[in-house]
Amino acid sequence: MLPDTDGLNQLNPYLLGPYAHVENEITAVDLEVTGEIPRDFAGAYYRNGPNPLHEPTGMHHWFDGDGMLHAIHFEDGKAEYRNRYIQTADFLAEKNGTLNKPGIFDPAVEDERRTVYKDTANTDIVMHDGELLALWYISGQPVRLDPRTLETIRTETFDGKLPNNVSAHSKVDQSTGEFLFFDYALYEPWYSFGIVDKDNRLAHFTQIEMPGPRLPHDMAITENYAILMDLPVVFTEQGLRNKLWTIHQDPGLPTRFGVLPRHGEGADIRWFEFPGCYIYHVVNAWEEGDNVVLYCCKMIDNGRDLPRHYGPYAPMVNVLALRAVLTKWTMNLRTGESREEQVDDSISEFPAVNLGLVGRKTRYAYHASIPDTETQVFDGILKYDLTDGSHVMHRFEEHFYGSEPAFAPRLDAADEDDGYVITFVSNARTGESRALILDARNLADEPVAQVHIPQRIPLGFHGTWANMSEFRPAA
Ligand SMILES: [Fe+2]
Repeated sequence: MLPDTDGLNQLNPYLLGPYAHVENEITAVDLEVTGEIPRDFAGAYYRNGPNPLHEPTGMHHWFDGDGMLHAIHFEDGKAEYRNRYIQTADFLAEKNGTLNKPGIFDPAVEDERRTVYKDTANTDIVMHDGELLALWYISGQPVRLDPRTLETIRTETFDGKLPNNVSAHSKVDQSTGEFLFFDYALYEPWYSFGIVDKDNRLAHFTQIEMPGPRLPHDMAITENYAILMDLPVVFTEQGLRNKLWTIHQDPGLPTRFGVLPRHGEGADIRWFEFPGCYIYHVVNAWEEGDNVVLYCCKMIDNGRDLPRHYGPYAPMVNVLALRAVLTKWTMNLRTGESREEQVDDSISEFPAVNLGLVGRKTRYAYHASIPDTETQVFDGILKYDLTDGSHVMHRFEEHFYGSEPAFAPRLDAADEDDGYVITFVSNARTGESRALILDARNLADEPVAQVHIPQRIPLGFHGTWANMSEFRPAA
């Protein structure tokens, strides 16, 4: 049963209904299936998200909830489900009653690592060097997790070499095994970039010059470059004086993409300017001759009045009403010419591609479809063909809302879209949750299989796929 939402607390809608936390960490094997789980793929779909350990006592933002990872493993036509808290240092302190760090609606505090808010690692999840890294939106300490059991292994410092923190949406290049990361902060250095090699050693680190603190959300990679973003949504001066996470879009600022040779120094970055816009998520980027091509979901006006009762925090709440359209930017490294083109007008976000091709040319992208609702939900999956901007749609059953989709290749995949698209869906009325397995080549068709999860999966943030062959063998 879902918690009673009759007395919906308008200040905290993300604590209720389909967003409400679950109490138990469970392991469930031999799950009931409608249809048949294909035997020609093996691995796991992971979904990170907030799951507050304690009832919040004050203002609460969706980003504040303690990180919980949900996973479904597929092998030999069988499925297993697990959910586990991500045991950041701050989570353990909270559990012990010793946490002294606030959520993002409260003034920041500083500790020896200059982490300014409770670090939940609740945002993103990537596979690197045979294990998982959970990452936080507001720049935090990566947490290494066992890809099979989801148990926390350690807070990852890359042998103590990590200078600061790591932001969510740092990227893994599967062809080199490298983890390319960025970090941003309210304090100097405001922006940095680094590379961890395939053996988990810090191989490169540089600072990026900025006129002030910035709030990028994602980055992109190509074969030879990293693309870093300088976006016109910035912290307010009053907020910065008071160490408050208050933001606004400065209409006088452009959107800038910085193209940085992967092992270059910050001074080597080359900026390309475009009309100001905000971007949450990158679809993919690659090189075509002298051009760098970048596809993202570009935010457009969501047409909503700011929720006034949040006062200066209203923009930080409004950002959850995602309205974005698929857009392509082209930057010529020889001539300096650039171009921006809107590809489609469908509202979509949380894009995914075949992870073996991140930073290389991809034809297909899988996006969450976003209806015009008060709080953020996904009502289906769009498959884009980037060659012509067309898409097909798989819409979820009524009252079911999804997670970020992920592409899972078949074991003997011959083509980019030779595989499955996986997501969790949860029914907002009944709490029933399922994992959907869709045929990526025939996305609009009925699911190949629906796996029934014996516990509700709250709606959350980012998901990914990892092939069983990538898992580090048990010691
Ligand atoms: Fe994100």
